[in-house]
Amino acid sequence: MKVLISDPLCPKGVKILEVEGDLLVEQRCGLTQEDLLGIIDGYDALIVRSGTQVTRELIEKGSRLKAIGRAGTGVDNVDIEAASERGIVVMNAPFGNTITTAEHTLSLLLSLAREIPQAYASLREGRWERKKFMGVELGGKILGIVGLGRIGKEIARRARGLAMEVLAADPYISLQDTEVQGLKLVELDELYAKADFITVHVPLGEKTWHLISEEAFAKMKPGVRIINCARGGIVDEQALYQAIKSGQVAGAALDVFEKEPPDKDNPLFSLENIVSTPHLGASTKEAQENVAVEIAHQVVQFLKKGIVVNAVNAPSLSYETLTVLSPYLELAEKLGKLIGQLTEGVPISSLSVSYAGVIPKTHSRPLTLSVVQALLAVREKRPVN
Ligand code: NAD
Ligand code: MLT
Repeated sequence: MKVLISDPLCPKGVKILEVEGDLLVEQRCGLTQEDLLGIIDGYDALIVRSGTQVTRELIEKGSRLKAIGRAGTGVDNVDIEAASERGIVVMNAPFGNTITTAEHTLSLLLSLAREIPQAYASLREGRWERKKFMGVELGGKILGIVGLGRIGKEIARRARGLAMEVLAADPYISLQDTEVQGLKLVELDELYAKADFITVHVPLGEKTWHLISEEAFAKMKPGVRIINCARGGIVDEQALYQAIKSGQVAGAALDVFEKEPPDKDNPLFSLENIVSTPHLGASTKEAQENVAVEIAHQVVQFLKKGIVVNAVNAPSLSYETLTVLSPYLELAEKLGKLIGQLTEGVPISSLSVSYAGVIPKTHSRPLTLSVVQALLAVREKRPVN
């Protein structure tokens, strides 16, 4: 089986695919979309970081594709719907770069508060401007975290070490889930009204596109500082420009942009109180090794044993559960295929699967899904995930 890696991936990951997976691996970075479209049908799996745009067109051309692996967290560069329609499993490696990204966010927070990049640039240009660079203290200030997932939680823990008060807004979690001492979970509007620094850590999607908008800036405390180390587009860049110009926002630190790389004449770069890095959130040796190893193992497990780990569009099972369920999954698939063949051309309005015997109730869902998947695949005459 052949795997294409179209973005830079740490060599340790490549080795796992070749040695442990016995897969034929081709690493071809910097291909144009046209080049990719021309070659994708020769591969069983595609591994990307954020550079490759895995569009519907690319997925549809990948006639052999079974898996798309994202060496990192965000899957906004992959058309998940198109992959699901074709029965292609999309997996990410969501744990490997959490600490690194939290640390980068804190670096941006400190740089923003003390204007370190600006002061360094001024010094390098031969100036000694001690009065110009008057920072703000972090101790006792309120940090607002929008999105309390893996990265948000790590930031919350570390911000407490800087003696900051931490508020977080995340409609999808409860306080018990937070596991972070001394953190207050609040509604977004309360966070906007109280926070001195706001950092966003939500995924980019339809609901979070321009979450931090003109309307949101208007609800914030005057002089607030904004950090975006998640995804370009979560903060509305035009609205941010206006909010900084008007003084409502005192400054912003951005690792990510609506268009990457951003245009040289992006108006934000004309402002003095912007600190920025070129999407370096996950760029440490440790994180890059972690995500490469994580995704390589997952792709090997899937292509060789059918084990799905960290899939964003398919149910995942633990290895232990899979070992117990494996023969039953096979039976379920065969039953699904059989019903599919027996009912060819006959409309089906419902299907019921009954269980008896040793399989615990909690494990029946993957089996039911397996029946449905095989049944639909036979009837549709194409892969279904
Ligand atoms: P995660 O899935 O663990 O956490 C995301 C959290 O956002 C979840 O708790 C979810 O409930 C919450 N959320 C979703 N919609 C929300 C909304 N409308 N309001 C408030 N909360 C909302 O993800 P993570 O691993 O913490 O990563 C977060 C983001 O960081 C992702 O966008 C990822 O792509 C990005 N990231 C960037 C870099 C980088 O290089 N800059 C590196 C790693 C991750
Ligand atoms: C991620 O979502 O993991 C980051 O954007 C890091 C990256 O792949 O560059």
